[in-house]
Amino acid sequence: MKRCSAPGKIILFGEHAVVFGKPAFALAIDLRITSTLSASTQYLVNGRPMKKQYHMYVSSALDQAWDGPPVEVVTRSQIPSGSGLGSSAAVTVATIAAMLAEKGRFQAEAVARKAFEVELAVQGRASPTDTSTSSNGHGVLVAQEKMDGFLWRIESGDKSWSIHHREVPEFTFVIGYTGIHASTGPLVAGVKALVDSSRDAAKAVDRIAELVMDGVNAMEKGDKAKVGRLMAENHQLLNTLGVGHAMLDRAVEACGPVSYGAKMTGAGGGGSMIALTDDPTGASKAIASTGCTPFTVKVGCEGVRLEPYARRDS
Ligand code: PMV
Repeated sequence: MKRCSAPGKIILFGEHAVVFGKPAFALAIDLRITSTLSASTQYLVNGRPMKKQYHMYVSSALDQAWDGPPVEVVTRSQIPSGSGLGSSAAVTVATIAAMLAEKGRFQAEAVARKAFEVELAVQGRASPTDTSTSSNGHGVLVAQEKMDGFLWRIESGDKSWSIHHREVPEFTFVIGYTGIHASTGPLVAGVKALVDSSRDAAKAVDRIAELVMDGVNAMEKGDKAKVGRLMAENHQLLNTLGVGHAMLDRAVEACGPVSYGAKMTGAGGGGSMIALTDDPTGASKAIASTGCTPFTVKVGCEGVRLEPYARRDS
C-alpha cells in the first residue's frame, strides 16, 4: 500500500512557552521515521496486535485518518523515542501521511492538522510546533500574527498559532542525548501548574516569547554569536519552568568553550540538548564527557514525503 517518512526536529527557541500561545522556532533534522501501511486481516503495529495503551500515537492516528479495512502499520525510526527530538510527532505525521496517500489525499497541511489533533488527544495539552515542523520540514516559525512565509493557521480552544516556513542557513548543531526518556504530557502539565502558581515562571514564559523573534532574526542574518547567547538564556528560562535536568546542565556547560551556545531542546526533564558550533568534533567530545550521547545533525531538511514502496522490502 503506502509508505511515508517524516523528519524529527529540534526546537531552537520557545518550547513550552508555545503551548501558552507564544512563538517558537523549530528546525527539521536529518533523522526520520518511516511508516508503512499495508492490508491485513487485523490491526497490527510492527507485527503485534494494536493496543491503545502501547501504540498511543499510531492508534490515535488511525482514529483521525482511517476508516478503511484493518491495516498493519510498520514503523522504522532513526530518532530515539522520548528524546525531545520529535519522535512522536514524526511517527504520527508519517502514519497519517500514509493513510491520506492511500486515499489519494496526501498533502502537508492536511497531515499537519490531523497530526496536531493526535498529539492533543494523547498529550492533553500541545502546540502544533512538532507536527507542523515534521510536516513542512525546513525551519518553522510559530507565531500569533501572520508573517512572511505563512503556511497555515491551527486552532485549539482559545489558542491559535500561525505556522510559517523559514529557510535555514547551514548551521551545525550537535545533539547531546541524555538517554533519559521523559514523556512530554506530564512535563507540559507541570509547566502549566507552575505558571499558574509562580510569578517567576509566568515571567519566564513572557521572556521566552520575546527572545524567539530576536533569535530568528539573528539566525537569518547569520549572527551565530547572538543565536548562541539567546540559546543560553532560553536554557536558563526553561530551568525556571522546572523542566531542566542536571545532565542537561552539565552538557550545556561543557559546550561553553566549543560552541556559540547550547540549550535543552523539546520537553526537557531528560531528553536532549543542542549546541550550535563550528567545531562538531570538540562539541561531541565535550558532550560525551558528561555521559550524554553526541550526534551531529543537519538542519532544515525536507518535510513529510511519500517513499517508494514494494511489498518485498516491507
Ligand atoms: O519533547 P518533544 O519533542 O515532545 O517537544 C515538545 C515541545 C513542547 O513545547 C514542550 C510541547 C508542545 O506541544 O509544543
